[in-house]
Amino acid sequence: MTKTSEFGDRMLSLGLARVSEAAAIASAKLIGRGDEKAADQAAVDAMRTQLNMLDIAGVVVIGEGERDEAPMLYIGEEVGSGTGPAVDIALDPLEGTTLTAKDMPNALAVIALGPRGSMLHAPDVYMDKLAIGPGFATDTVTLDMTPGERVHALAAAKGCDVADITVCILERPRHEDLIRDVRATGAAIRLITDGDVAGVIHCAESEITGIDMYMGSGGAPEGVLAASALKCMGGQIYGRLMFRNDDERGRAQKAGITDLDKIYTRDDMVTDDVVFAASGVTDGSILAGVKREPGFLTIETILMRSKTGSVRRMSYRHPVAKD
Ligand code: FBP
Repeated sequence: MTKTSEFGDRMLSLGLARVSEAAAIASAKLIGRGDEKAADQAAVDAMRTQLNMLDIAGVVVIGEGERDEAPMLYIGEEVGSGTGPAVDIALDPLEGTTLTAKDMPNALAVIALGPRGSMLHAPDVYMDKLAIGPGFATDTVTLDMTPGERVHALAAAKGCDVADITVCILERPRHEDLIRDVRATGAAIRLITDGDVAGVIHCAESEITGIDMYMGSGGAPEGVLAASALKCMGGQIYGRLMFRNDDERGRAQKAGITDLDKIYTRDDMVTDDVVFAASGVTDGSILAGVKREPGFLTIETILMRSKTGSVRRMSYRHPVAKD
């Protein structure tokens, strides 16, 4: 069950929106420039600078990687001014580096914050994910069902035909069987090339996005970010870590995970209330991307708190110096 702790989430939330906005602004210069690394670096630098202005004693739980491979926003890095509530932070300064480099839809700057100890320390391995939006009974769909059974179960719960269900899946060779099984039911599939945090969030606004369910494997850290978003918007996500070798199993053990086969629910991944902010980098179905006009940029952000279920969509006009 979700705990509700006081961590100044109301006052912190606007600060968090500034953090995701800053990352989106910084990476916007690199949209469509074919350079994933530069786009990511710009977002990381800007997010870190802005995050360090917040009055929090923050620790990065989901970040850019292990300390030896990521110089900034690495797992365990202390961020914020050091005064204020002790919080866990999950972030992805640029979720969809390739989407940004190629100017393709749904690249986001993403951050979530909750009380210390509230977030799963997900290792950098794949996670098998399954998500649906709000309004369904627990275990309407489960990871133990076959893909076809999930489609039929969701259609029955929605009271619609399977042909009216759309499933979002990352287009990867490893998903060939999954795609074939879902297609065999008669359901539609929206294939995405990257960005499964956005893919999962799409399920929470199925009237707008047309997506009912998310399935398939992607990064485990992204699973915790997606769980944070669904905690605010409603909806269910299940995740099971996947290990390809002993090195990956070792990463999980290092993160303190003992049950390697556990199926994590949304509330296992995020055990307390969170604040979640995402800003659009490239245009997408949830958020518009950064827009350039003479003298200013416009950035769209979704800012949510799980404690209240509040969902704000904000448009920020950011002045830029004339060349
Ligand atoms: P990056 O932004 O780091 O490029 O990640 C994008 C992403 O598509 C995630 O959304 C997803 O979880 C993961 O990569 C999938 O990994 P892979 O590309 O190895 O299938």
